[in-house]
Amino acid sequence: MIANNQHKTTYYTHGFHPYPAKFTPQIVNKFFNLYCKKGFSILDPFCGSGTTLVEGVLNGMASVGIDLNPIAFIISKAKSTHYSDSEIQIVKDFMSEIQSKINKGLFSNNNYNKNGIEIPDFPNRDHWFQKNVSYELATLKNKIDAFQNENVKTLFYSAFSKIIVKVSNQDSEVRYTAKNKNHPDGIVYSSFVDTVSGYLMALNSKEHSIIEKSEVYNGDTFEVLKNLTENNFDFVITSPPYINTFDYYLYHKQRMFWLGYDHRPVRQKEIGNHHRIDTKKFEIAKAEYIESMTQIMNELSRVSKPNSYFVMIIGDGIVEGTTIDMSQVITEICEHCNYSVENIESVNLSDITRSFNKKFSNAPKKEHTITLKNIK
Ligand SMILES: C[S@@+](CC[C@H](N)C(=O)[O-])C[C@H]1O[C@@H](n2cnc3c(N)ncnc32)[C@H](O)[C@@H]1O
Repeated sequence: MIANNQHKTTYYTHGFHPYPAKFTPQIVNKFFNLYCKKGFSILDPFCGSGTTLVEGVLNGMASVGIDLNPIAFIISKAKSTHYSDSEIQIVKDFMSEIQSKINKGLFSNNNYNKNGIEIPDFPNRDHWFQKNVSYELATLKNKIDAFQNENVKTLFYSAFSKIIVKVSNQDSEVRYTAKNKNHPDGIVYSSFVDTVSGYLMALNSKEHSIIEKSEVYNGDTFEVLKNLTENNFDFVITSPPYINTFDYYLYHKQRMFWLGYDHRPVRQKEIGNHHRIDTKKFEIAKAEYIESMTQIMNELSRVSKPNSYFVMIIGDGIVEGTTIDMSQVITEICEHCNYSVENIESVNLSDITRSFNKKFSNAPKKEHTITLKNIK
């Protein structure tokens, strides 16, 4: 979570896609070194963009991730999958096909055949996307849908998702205002080729190779955990959603529209988001968060091995102007489930550089690294 400026945080597939409140690979590795060894099974129950999974499979540990957000699912899978030579060849062939069309000017206005292209309909689409961009996104999405190979398809969806903000009218990843960017024809295809070429370079890395399997579940953590077998995991590490801080569904809303997902169930089930908190009083919001996390931690204890460790990195939240000390909240939750608190390290958020959004770093909040032990 804490960006360590001395180390590159985007090596191998880590730079595939932006994500709010991402782990740094270094922080994950620090705890792998302390508590894990090759052959372990590990779990990240709120895996987000899959940082834990990538480091897990690079370090020879079978790695499982869960996330409610479909974009998190796509990114995590794309980043932690081992691609066969034939899959890489399919990717390269598609890039050559698009590049040759770009070179022939086939995406310029006069040559672009718009007949029969259906642009998905969603709220404020034309406010956020120029018409030429929408046509290009729709045709590219159709082409990706037609691929049979699931790994290739997921890699392309990740690249498609990554370029959405760039080709939209949205100011930037973290500024939700529209501005006229006057995107030229062909912007979608050239951005897509650039992104996938970057992916291919990363995957071709000589220093890193995936030596274990990852599995990613797209769903509500509690619901998914209920269906997993007991005593399975040797180590759990996660950064759960913070209370009232980030809205992941909002961050990925345009991406979800284009990829054909409905953001509403995600908004409804996302723990800690503003939509769920804003309509409630402080005590109710806090109690609801505690209830969700208690249920989840009971299940985490069940699916993990006795005496295994669980490292949680969590930041304080502010509801109705009151800071909620999350180290206290987690300590209280542990009294109702089979975890003992082994260690808590806290830092002021204003003292550290955040890996994603510095906007929150001036608030009077702390970030806690809490080590728990399964005492079931
Ligand atoms: C702090 S982020 C995790 C970031 C991750 N460590 C990374 O490196 O990218 C928390 C995640 O919890 C997910 N989340 C929120 N509510 C959830 C729920 N009910 N079930 C599953 N995932 C949920 C969000 O979608 C978000 O991706």
